[in-house]
Amino acid sequence: MSLDLVLFGGTGDLAWRKLMPALFQAFRHGSLPDNTRIIGVARDDLSDQQYRALMRGRLDQVDLAKRPSPQEFDRFAALLHFLRMDLSKPDDFRRLAGMLRQQQADSVVMYLATAPSLFTAACEQLAAAGLNTPNTRVVLEKPLGSDLASNRAINETVRKVLRENQIFRIDHYLGKPSVQNLFALRFGNALFEPLWRRETIANIQITIAEDFGVEKRGAFYDNTGALRDMVQNHALQLVCALAMEPPINAHADAIRDEKLKVLRSLKPWTGEDIGQHVVRGQYAAGIVGGEAVPGYRDEAGVNPQSTTETFVALRAEIANWRWAGVPFYIRTGKRLAARDARIVINFRPAPHAIFRSPNGDANRLVIHLQPKDGLELHLLAQGQENRQQAKTLAPALTPVHLDLDFDKRFGSERVGAYERLLLDVIDGRLNLFVRSDEQEEAWRWVEPVMDHWRQDPSGPRPYAAGTWGPSAASAMIARDGHCWSEEC
Ligand code: BG6
Repeated sequence: MSLDLVLFGGTGDLAWRKLMPALFQAFRHGSLPDNTRIIGVARDDLSDQQYRALMRGRLDQVDLAKRPSPQEFDRFAALLHFLRMDLSKPDDFRRLAGMLRQQQADSVVMYLATAPSLFTAACEQLAAAGLNTPNTRVVLEKPLGSDLASNRAINETVRKVLRENQIFRIDHYLGKPSVQNLFALRFGNALFEPLWRRETIANIQITIAEDFGVEKRGAFYDNTGALRDMVQNHALQLVCALAMEPPINAHADAIRDEKLKVLRSLKPWTGEDIGQHVVRGQYAAGIVGGEAVPGYRDEAGVNPQSTTETFVALRAEIANWRWAGVPFYIRTGKRLAARDARIVINFRPAPHAIFRSPNGDANRLVIHLQPKDGLELHLLAQGQENRQQAKTLAPALTPVHLDLDFDKRFGSERVGAYERLLLDVIDGRLNLFVRSDEQEEAWRWVEPVMDHWRQDPSGPRPYAAGTWGPSAASAMIARDGHCWSEEC
Protein backbone atom coordinates (compact mmCIF):
# COMPACT_ATOMS: atom_id res chain seq x y z
CA MET A 1 0.00 0.00 0.00
CA SER A 2 1.17 3.55 -0.64
CA LEU A 3 0.32 6.75 1.18
CA ASP A 4 0.75 10.46 0.53
CA LEU A 5 0.18 12.49 3.68
CA VAL A 6 0.05 16.20 2.95
CA LEU A 7 0.57 18.31 6.03
CA PHE A 8 -0.80 21.82 5.48
CA GLY A 9 0.74 24.02 8.17
CA GLY A 10 3.81 21.79 7.88
CA THR A 11 6.02 24.20 9.80
CA GLY A 12 3.31 25.38 12.21
CA ASP A 13 2.86 24.85 15.91
CA LEU A 14 0.77 21.68 15.71
CA ALA A 15 3.03 19.94 13.20
CA TRP A 16 5.97 20.91 15.36
CA ARG A 17 4.58 19.96 18.76
CA LYS A 18 2.38 16.96 18.06
CA LEU A 19 2.17 15.70 14.48
CA MET A 20 5.81 15.17 13.54
CA PRO A 21 6.66 13.36 16.81
CA ALA A 22 3.52 11.21 16.35
CA LEU A 23 4.43 10.40 12.73
CA PHE A 24 7.90 9.41 13.81
CA GLN A 25 6.47 7.06 16.45
CA ALA A 26 4.15 5.52 13.85
CA PHE A 27 7.18 5.02 11.61
CA ARG A 28 9.20 3.50 14.46
CA HIS A 29 6.34 1.13 15.29
CA GLY A 30 6.27 0.00 11.65
CA SER A 31 2.69 1.27 11.27
CA LEU A 32 3.14 3.49 8.19
CA PRO A 33 2.59 1.90 4.77
CA ASP A 34 5.75 0.89 2.87
CA ASN A 35 5.56 3.67 0.33
CA THR A 36 4.79 6.68 2.45
CA ARG A 37 5.53 10.29 1.61
CA ILE A 38 4.95 13.00 4.20
CA ILE A 39 4.72 16.28 2.35
CA GLY A 40 5.01 19.35 4.56
CA VAL A 41 3.26 22.35 3.02
CA ALA A 42 3.73 25.95 4.14
CA ARG A 43 4.58 29.41 2.80
CA ASP A 44 8.20 29.14 3.92
CA ASP A 45 10.91 28.82 1.32
CA LEU A 46 12.48 25.49 2.25
CA SER A 47 14.08 22.64 0.35
CA ASP A 48 13.41 19.01 1.32
CA GLN A 49 16.82 18.98 3.02
CA GLN A 50 16.04 22.10 5.04
CA TYR A 51 12.66 20.73 6.09
CA ARG A 52 14.28 17.48 7.20
CA ALA A 53 16.89 19.41 9.21
CA LEU A 54 14.13 21.46 10.85
CA MET A 55 12.21 18.33 11.87
CA ARG A 56 15.41 16.68 13.06
CA GLY A 57 15.78 19.62 15.46
CA ARG A 58 12.26 18.97 16.71
CA LEU A 59 12.69 15.24 17.21
CA ASP A 60 15.90 15.86 19.13
CA GLN A 61 13.81 17.68 21.74
CA VAL A 62 11.31 14.93 22.55
CA ASP A 63 11.65 12.57 25.55
CA LEU A 64 14.75 10.44 25.31
CA ALA A 65 12.81 7.21 24.79
CA LYS A 66 11.00 8.73 21.81
CA ARG A 67 14.04 10.31 20.18
CA PRO A 68 15.41 8.79 16.96
CA SER A 69 18.95 7.48 16.64
CA PRO A 70 20.88 9.08 13.70
CA GLN A 71 20.26 5.97 11.55
CA GLU A 72 16.58 5.89 12.43
CA PHE A 73 16.20 9.56 11.60
CA ASP A 74 17.90 9.08 8.23
CA ARG A 75 15.39 6.38 7.32
CA PHE A 76 12.47 8.52 8.53
CA ALA A 77 13.83 11.64 6.80
CA ALA A 78 13.65 9.85 3.45
CA LEU A 79 9.82 10.05 3.78
CA LEU A 80 9.83 13.83 4.35
CA HIS A 81 9.33 16.34 1.52
CA PHE A 82 8.45 19.99 1.43
CA LEU A 83 6.28 22.03 -0.91
CA ARG A 84 6.04 25.80 -0.72
CA MET A 85 2.40 26.81 -1.16
CA ASP A 86 0.14 29.78 -0.74
CA LEU A 87 -3.32 28.37 -0.02
CA SER A 88 -5.01 31.15 -1.95
CA LYS A 89 -3.19 30.37 -5.22
CA PRO A 90 -4.74 27.85 -7.65
CA ASP A 91 -1.35 27.38 -9.34
CA ASP A 92 0.14 26.11 -6.11
CA PHE A 93 -2.61 23.48 -5.84
CA ARG A 94 -1.88 22.43 -9.42
CA ARG A 95 1.77 21.92 -8.44
CA LEU A 96 0.62 19.80 -5.50
CA ALA A 97 -1.59 17.78 -7.87
CA GLY A 98 1.46 17.24 -10.11
CA MET A 99 3.49 16.01 -7.16
CA LEU A 100 0.74 13.60 -6.08
CA ARG A 101 0.39 12.24 -9.64
CA GLN A 102 4.02 11.03 -9.45
CA GLN A 103 3.14 8.36 -6.88
CA GLN A 104 -0.63 7.78 -7.57
CA ALA A 105 -0.88 6.64 -3.94
CA ASP A 106 -3.61 4.23 -2.80
CA SER A 107 -4.46 6.62 -0.04
CA VAL A 108 -4.09 10.39 0.17
CA VAL A 109 -4.50 12.22 3.48
CA MET A 110 -4.73 16.01 3.52
CA TYR A 111 -4.17 17.20 7.09
CA LEU A 112 -5.31 20.81 7.53
CA ALA A 113 -3.23 21.84 10.54
CA THR A 114 -3.77 25.51 9.72
CA ALA A 115 -5.89 28.34 11.08
CA PRO A 116 -9.58 27.37 10.68
CA SER A 117 -10.13 30.54 8.64
CA LEU A 118 -8.20 28.82 5.80
CA PHE A 119 -10.23 25.57 5.78
CA THR A 120 -12.94 26.71 3.37
CA ALA A 121 -10.54 28.18 0.82
CA ALA A 122 -8.24 25.15 1.05
CA CYS A 123 -11.10 22.69 0.43
CA GLU A 124 -12.40 24.71 -2.53
CA GLN A 125 -8.94 24.83 -4.04
CA LEU A 126 -8.42 21.10 -3.50
CA ALA A 127 -11.61 20.44 -5.46
CA ALA A 128 -10.72 22.92 -8.21
CA ALA A 129 -7.39 21.14 -8.69
CA GLY A 130 -9.20 17.76 -8.89
CA LEU A 131 -7.68 16.57 -5.63
CA ASN A 132 -10.97 15.44 -4.07
CA THR A 133 -10.70 11.91 -5.43
CA PRO A 134 -12.49 8.99 -3.68
CA ASN A 135 -9.23 7.83 -2.06
CA THR A 136 -8.65 11.25 -0.45
CA ARG A 137 -9.33 11.90 3.23
CA VAL A 138 -9.24 15.34 4.79
CA VAL A 139 -8.40 15.94 8.45
CA LEU A 140 -9.73 19.13 10.02
CA GLU A 141 -8.20 20.32 13.26
CA LYS A 142 -10.21 21.93 16.03
CA PRO A 143 -11.56 24.50 16.69
CA LEU A 144 -13.62 24.15 13.54
CA GLY A 145 -14.81 27.73 13.19
CA SER A 146 -15.24 30.27 15.94
CA ASP A 147 -19.02 30.01 16.36
CA LEU A 148 -21.98 28.10 15.00
CA ALA A 149 -22.25 30.13 11.78
CA SER A 150 -18.57 29.81 10.84
CA ASN A 151 -18.61 26.12 11.78
CA ARG A 152 -21.59 25.52 9.50
CA ALA A 153 -20.00 27.47 6.67
CA ILE A 154 -16.89 25.28 6.86
CA ASN A 155 -18.89 22.07 7.05
CA GLU A 156 -21.09 23.08 4.13
CA THR A 157 -18.12 23.81 1.89
CA VAL A 158 -16.30 20.65 2.89
CA ARG A 159 -19.41 18.56 2.26
CA LYS A 160 -19.78 20.04 -1.21
CA VAL A 161 -16.42 18.61 -2.21
CA LEU A 162 -16.12 15.44 -0.08
CA ARG A 163 -18.40 12.72 1.26
CA GLU A 164 -18.91 12.59 5.05
CA ASN A 165 -16.83 9.40 5.32
CA GLN A 166 -13.86 11.26 3.83
CA ILE A 167 -13.97 13.99 6.50
CA PHE A 168 -12.05 13.43 9.74
CA ARG A 169 -12.79 16.14 12.32
CA ILE A 170 -10.22 15.61 14.97
CA ASP A 171 -10.52 16.01 18.72
CA HIS A 172 -7.34 14.48 20.03
CA TYR A 173 -8.87 13.82 23.46
CA LEU A 174 -10.80 10.96 21.85
CA GLY A 175 -7.50 9.35 20.89
CA LYS A 176 -6.05 9.37 24.42
CA PRO A 177 -5.58 5.89 25.91
CA SER A 178 -7.29 7.12 29.08
CA VAL A 179 -10.40 8.10 27.12
CA GLN A 180 -10.40 4.72 25.36
CA ASN A 181 -10.38 3.22 28.82
CA LEU A 182 -13.38 5.26 29.82
CA PHE A 183 -15.31 3.62 26.97
CA ALA A 184 -13.92 0.23 28.07
CA LEU A 185 -14.91 0.87 31.68
CA ARG A 186 -18.46 1.76 30.74
CA PHE A 187 -19.20 -0.55 27.83
CA GLY A 188 -16.85 -3.49 28.38
CA ASN A 189 -17.71 -4.01 32.06
CA ALA A 190 -21.21 -4.47 33.42
CA LEU A 191 -20.23 -3.57 36.98
CA PHE A 192 -20.82 0.17 36.93
CA GLU A 193 -23.77 0.36 34.55
CA PRO A 194 -26.49 0.00 37.23
CA LEU A 195 -24.77 2.74 39.25
CA TRP A 196 -24.25 5.11 36.34
CA ARG A 197 -27.29 7.31 36.89
CA ARG A 198 -28.95 10.03 38.92
CA GLU A 199 -30.18 7.70 41.67
CA THR A 200 -26.58 6.87 42.71
CA ILE A 201 -24.39 9.71 41.42
CA ALA A 202 -24.37 13.05 43.24
CA ASN A 203 -22.22 14.99 40.79
CA ILE A 204 -19.49 14.60 38.18
CA GLN A 205 -16.44 16.85 37.91
CA ILE A 206 -14.23 17.17 34.86
CA THR A 207 -10.99 19.06 35.39
CA ILE A 208 -8.47 19.73 32.64
CA ALA A 209 -5.81 21.80 34.36
CA GLU A 210 -2.54 22.92 32.80
CA ASP A 211 0.32 24.52 34.68
CA PHE A 212 1.80 26.14 31.55
CA GLY A 213 0.62 29.35 29.90
CA VAL A 214 -0.07 30.16 26.26
CA GLU A 215 3.58 29.59 25.29
CA LYS A 216 4.18 30.59 21.66
CA ARG A 217 0.49 30.59 20.75
CA GLY A 218 -0.41 33.98 22.25
CA ALA A 219 -1.89 35.44 19.05
CA PHE A 220 -4.01 32.35 18.30
CA TYR A 221 -5.13 31.95 21.88
CA ASP A 222 -6.08 35.59 22.31
CA ASN A 223 -8.65 35.18 19.52
CA THR A 224 -9.87 31.88 20.91
CA GLY A 225 -9.98 31.62 24.72
CA ALA A 226 -10.57 28.61 26.96
CA LEU A 227 -14.27 28.17 26.11
CA ARG A 228 -13.57 27.66 22.39
CA ASP A 229 -10.17 26.01 22.86
CA MET A 230 -11.10 23.39 25.46
CA VAL A 231 -14.77 23.39 26.52
CA GLN A 232 -16.59 23.37 23.15
CA ASN A 233 -14.62 20.31 22.08
CA HIS A 234 -12.44 18.33 24.53
CA ALA A 235 -14.53 18.83 27.66
CA LEU A 236 -17.87 18.27 25.91
CA GLN A 237 -16.54 15.11 24.25
CA LEU A 238 -15.66 13.87 27.76
CA VAL A 239 -19.19 14.72 28.89
CA CYS A 240 -20.48 12.64 25.96
CA ALA A 241 -18.27 9.67 26.84
CA LEU A 242 -19.49 9.84 30.44
CA ALA A 243 -23.17 10.44 29.82
CA MET A 244 -24.01 8.63 26.57
CA GLU A 245 -26.16 5.50 26.45
CA PRO A 246 -24.40 2.28 25.46
CA PRO A 247 -24.18 2.25 21.65
CA ILE A 248 -25.64 -0.77 19.84
CA ASN A 249 -22.20 -1.64 18.41
CA ALA A 250 -18.76 -0.08 17.99
CA HIS A 251 -19.41 1.41 14.54
CA ALA A 252 -18.69 5.09 14.09
CA ASP A 253 -22.28 6.19 13.58
CA ALA A 254 -23.64 4.09 16.43
CA ILE A 255 -21.22 5.86 18.78
CA ARG A 256 -21.74 9.28 17.27
CA ASP A 257 -25.54 8.98 17.37
CA GLU A 258 -25.38 8.41 21.13
CA LYS A 259 -22.94 11.27 21.68
CA LEU A 260 -25.18 13.56 19.67
CA LYS A 261 -28.15 12.76 21.95
CA VAL A 262 -26.12 13.87 24.97
CA LEU A 263 -25.21 17.17 23.32
CA ARG A 264 -28.84 17.72 22.38
CA SER A 265 -29.88 17.05 25.99
CA LEU A 266 -27.58 19.67 27.51
CA LYS A 267 -29.84 22.06 29.37
CA PRO A 268 -29.89 25.34 27.43
CA TRP A 269 -28.58 28.44 29.17
CA THR A 270 -30.62 31.35 30.42
CA GLY A 271 -28.93 34.71 31.10
CA GLU A 272 -29.41 34.17 34.85
CA ASP A 273 -27.78 30.69 34.71
CA ILE A 274 -24.73 32.10 32.99
CA GLY A 275 -24.25 34.72 35.70
CA GLN A 276 -24.51 32.04 38.40
CA HIS A 277 -23.09 28.91 36.86
CA VAL A 278 -20.25 30.08 34.64
CA VAL A 279 -17.00 31.63 35.88
CA ARG A 280 -14.36 33.00 33.56
CA GLY A 281 -10.87 33.93 34.68
CA GLN A 282 -7.58 35.20 33.34
CA TYR A 283 -4.19 34.49 34.88
CA ALA A 284 -2.14 37.26 36.45
CA ALA A 285 1.55 36.96 37.32
CA GLY A 286 2.36 34.32 39.92
CA ILE A 287 4.62 31.46 40.90
CA VAL A 288 4.52 28.11 39.12
CA GLY A 289 6.88 25.31 40.17
CA GLY A 290 8.88 27.77 42.27
CA GLU A 291 9.41 30.18 39.36
CA ALA A 292 7.91 33.61 38.83
CA VAL A 293 5.84 33.72 35.62
CA PRO A 294 4.23 36.69 33.84
CA GLY A 295 0.52 37.35 33.64
CA TYR A 296 -1.48 36.54 30.49
CA ARG A 297 -1.59 40.15 29.28
CA ASP A 298 2.21 40.26 29.29
CA GLU A 299 2.59 37.17 27.10
CA ALA A 300 3.94 37.59 23.55
CA GLY A 301 1.21 38.04 20.96
CA VAL A 302 -1.46 38.93 23.54
CA ASN A 303 -3.27 42.28 23.57
CA PRO A 304 -2.20 44.09 26.79
CA GLN A 305 -5.89 44.93 27.44
CA SER A 306 -7.13 41.48 26.49
CA THR A 307 -10.36 40.19 28.04
CA THR A 308 -9.83 36.66 26.71
CA GLU A 309 -10.50 33.98 29.31
CA THR A 310 -7.74 31.52 30.22
CA PHE A 311 -9.98 29.73 32.73
CA VAL A 312 -13.58 28.53 32.68
CA ALA A 313 -15.58 26.71 35.33
CA LEU A 314 -19.20 25.89 34.69
CA ARG A 315 -22.08 23.74 35.80
CA ALA A 316 -23.93 21.84 33.10
CA GLU A 317 -27.00 19.64 33.36
CA ILE A 318 -28.22 16.93 31.08
CA ALA A 319 -31.97 16.97 30.77
CA ASN A 320 -32.87 13.31 30.34
CA TRP A 321 -34.10 10.45 32.52
CA ARG A 322 -30.66 9.14 33.39
CA TRP A 323 -29.08 12.42 34.42
CA ALA A 324 -31.75 15.00 35.33
CA GLY A 325 -30.57 17.04 38.30
CA VAL A 326 -26.98 15.71 38.38
CA PRO A 327 -24.53 18.60 38.02
CA PHE A 328 -21.65 18.08 35.60
CA TYR A 329 -18.98 20.56 36.65
CA ILE A 330 -16.39 21.41 34.00
CA ARG A 331 -13.21 23.30 34.85
CA THR A 332 -10.24 24.06 32.63
CA GLY A 333 -7.49 26.62 32.65
CA LYS A 334 -3.93 27.57 31.93
CA ARG A 335 -1.29 28.40 34.54
CA LEU A 336 -3.12 26.47 37.24
CA ALA A 337 -1.52 24.77 40.22
CA ALA A 338 -0.74 21.50 38.41
CA ARG A 339 -1.00 19.71 35.11
CA ASP A 340 -3.79 17.33 35.93
CA ALA A 341 -6.72 16.10 33.89
CA ARG A 342 -9.20 13.97 35.79
CA ILE A 343 -12.83 13.04 36.05
CA VAL A 344 -14.30 12.59 39.50
CA ILE A 345 -17.58 10.76 39.93
CA ASN A 346 -19.00 11.44 43.36
CA PHE A 347 -21.55 8.88 44.46
CA ARG A 348 -24.30 9.64 46.91
CA PRO A 349 -23.62 8.82 50.57
CA ALA A 350 -25.14 5.73 52.19
CA PRO A 351 -28.85 6.42 52.74
CA HIS A 352 -28.77 5.42 56.42
CA ALA A 353 -25.72 5.67 58.68
CA ILE A 354 -24.90 2.81 61.04
CA PHE A 355 -21.18 3.69 61.01
CA ARG A 356 -19.49 6.92 61.83
CA SER A 357 -17.74 8.13 58.71
CA PRO A 358 -15.62 11.24 58.15
CA ASN A 359 -17.76 14.21 57.34
CA GLY A 360 -19.04 14.26 53.79
CA ASP A 361 -17.13 11.12 52.80
CA ALA A 362 -18.78 8.90 50.28
CA ASN A 363 -17.71 6.66 47.43
CA ARG A 364 -15.89 8.26 44.58
CA LEU A 365 -14.47 7.00 41.30
CA VAL A 366 -11.54 9.02 39.97
CA ILE A 367 -10.56 8.56 36.33
CA HIS A 368 -7.09 9.99 35.80
CA LEU A 369 -6.56 11.17 32.21
CA GLN A 370 -3.10 12.71 32.50
CA PRO A 371 -0.28 12.86 33.39
CA LYS A 372 -1.29 9.67 35.22
CA ASP A 373 -3.58 7.21 33.43
CA GLY A 374 -5.63 5.09 35.79
CA LEU A 375 -8.60 4.56 38.03
CA GLU A 376 -9.07 5.02 41.75
CA LEU A 377 -12.10 3.73 43.58
CA HIS A 378 -12.56 5.40 46.95
CA LEU A 379 -14.31 3.32 49.59
CA LEU A 380 -14.75 3.41 53.34
CA ALA A 381 -13.22 0.66 55.44
CA GLN A 382 -12.70 -0.24 59.04
CA GLY A 383 -8.98 -0.02 59.76
CA GLN A 384 -6.90 -1.42 62.64
CA GLU A 385 -6.86 1.89 64.44
CA ASN A 386 -10.61 1.71 64.85
CA ARG A 387 -10.75 -1.55 66.77
CA GLN A 388 -11.55 0.07 70.08
CA GLN A 389 -14.19 2.21 68.50
CA ALA A 390 -15.55 -0.80 66.63
CA LYS A 391 -16.77 -2.13 69.94
CA THR A 392 -19.12 0.80 70.20
CA LEU A 393 -22.47 0.86 68.50
CA ALA A 394 -21.31 3.14 65.72
CA PRO A 395 -17.76 2.25 64.73
CA ALA A 396 -15.81 4.79 62.69
CA LEU A 397 -14.71 4.22 59.10
CA THR A 398 -11.59 5.33 57.29
CA PRO A 399 -11.33 6.34 53.59
CA VAL A 400 -9.23 3.92 51.52
CA HIS A 401 -8.87 3.46 47.79
CA LEU A 402 -8.25 0.82 45.17
CA ASP A 403 -5.72 2.09 42.67
CA LEU A 404 -5.37 0.79 39.12
CA ASP A 405 -2.43 2.37 37.33
CA PHE A 406 -2.72 1.70 33.59
CA ASP A 407 0.80 2.97 32.90
CA LYS A 408 2.20 0.31 35.25
CA ARG A 409 -0.15 -2.36 33.96
CA PHE A 410 0.22 -1.74 30.22
CA GLY A 411 3.45 0.29 30.06
CA SER A 412 3.69 4.04 29.57
CA GLU A 413 4.86 3.61 25.95
CA ARG A 414 1.38 2.99 24.61
CA VAL A 415 0.34 4.52 21.29
CA GLY A 416 -0.27 8.25 21.90
CA ALA A 417 -3.40 10.17 20.89
CA TYR A 418 -2.12 11.73 17.66
CA GLU A 419 -0.38 8.55 16.51
CA ARG A 420 -3.53 6.55 17.10
CA LEU A 421 -5.74 9.07 15.29
CA LEU A 422 -3.35 9.43 12.34
CA LEU A 423 -3.37 5.67 11.87
CA ASP A 424 -7.17 5.66 12.06
CA VAL A 425 -7.31 8.26 9.28
CA ILE A 426 -4.94 6.21 7.15
CA ASP A 427 -7.14 3.14 7.70
CA GLY A 428 -10.37 5.10 7.19
CA ARG A 429 -11.75 4.40 10.71
CA LEU A 430 -14.09 7.16 11.84
CA ASN A 431 -15.04 5.96 15.35
CA LEU A 432 -12.86 8.49 17.15
CA PHE A 433 -13.71 11.47 14.95
CA VAL A 434 -16.46 13.99 15.42
CA ARG A 435 -19.44 14.27 13.09
CA SER A 436 -20.60 17.70 11.92
CA ASP A 437 -23.92 17.51 13.79
CA GLU A 438 -22.06 16.88 17.07
CA GLN A 439 -19.92 19.94 16.48
CA GLU A 440 -22.92 22.08 15.65
CA GLU A 441 -24.74 21.05 18.83
CA ALA A 442 -21.64 21.83 20.88
CA TRP A 443 -21.37 25.30 19.32
CA ARG A 444 -25.09 25.88 19.81
CA TRP A 445 -24.69 25.15 23.52
CA VAL A 446 -21.65 27.37 24.17
CA GLU A 447 -22.76 30.28 22.01
CA PRO A 448 -25.10 31.95 24.55
CA VAL A 449 -22.15 32.05 26.97
CA MET A 450 -19.97 33.73 24.34
CA ASP A 451 -22.76 36.25 23.62
CA HIS A 452 -23.31 36.95 27.30
CA TRP A 453 -19.61 37.60 27.90
CA ARG A 454 -19.39 39.89 24.89
CA GLN A 455 -22.03 42.12 26.48
CA ASP A 456 -20.75 41.87 30.03
CA PRO A 457 -18.22 44.65 30.74
CA SER A 458 -16.91 43.04 33.94
CA GLY A 459 -14.53 40.79 31.97
CA PRO A 460 -12.71 37.73 33.33
CA ARG A 461 -11.76 37.49 37.00
CA PRO A 462 -8.00 37.60 37.59
CA TYR A 463 -6.32 34.67 39.35
CA ALA A 464 -2.68 34.30 40.34
CA ALA A 465 -0.73 31.87 38.17
CA GLY A 466 -0.07 28.68 40.13
CA THR A 467 -3.47 28.59 41.89
CA TRP A 468 -6.69 26.72 41.07
CA GLY A 469 -8.32 29.74 39.42
CA PRO A 470 -10.65 32.46 40.72
CA SER A 471 -12.29 31.82 44.09
CA ALA A 472 -15.65 32.34 42.36
CA ALA A 473 -15.21 28.84 40.88
CA SER A 474 -15.19 27.38 44.41
CA ALA A 475 -18.12 29.57 45.41
CA MET A 476 -20.08 28.34 42.37
CA ILE A 477 -19.79 24.69 43.34
CA ALA A 478 -20.18 25.42 47.07
CA ARG A 479 -23.63 26.89 46.37
CA ASP A 480 -24.73 23.34 45.49
CA GLY A 481 -23.17 21.99 48.69
CA HIS A 482 -20.24 20.39 46.80
CA CYS A 483 -16.52 21.14 46.48
CA TRP A 484 -13.80 20.55 43.90
CA SER A 485 -11.99 17.30 44.59
CA GLU A 486 -8.74 18.93 45.76
CA GLU A 487 -10.68 21.09 48.25
CA CYS A 488 -12.59 18.39 50.09
C1 BG6 B 1 -5.29 21.69 22.49
C2 BG6 B 1 -5.43 23.12 22.94
O1 BG6 B 1 -6.40 21.31 21.71
O2 BG6 B 1 -5.22 20.85 23.62
C3 BG6 B 1 -4.29 23.51 23.85
O3 BG6 B 1 -5.46 23.96 21.80
C4 BG6 B 1 -4.15 22.53 25.00
O4 BG6 B 1 -4.46 24.83 24.35
C5 BG6 B 1 -4.11 21.12 24.47
O5 BG6 B 1 -2.97 22.83 25.71
C6 BG6 B 1 -4.16 20.11 25.61
O6 BG6 B 1 -3.88 18.85 25.08
P1 BG6 B 1 -3.19 17.76 26.00
O7 BG6 B 1 -3.23 16.52 25.19
O8 BG6 B 1 -1.80 18.26 26.26
O9 BG6 B 1 -4.01 17.71 27.23
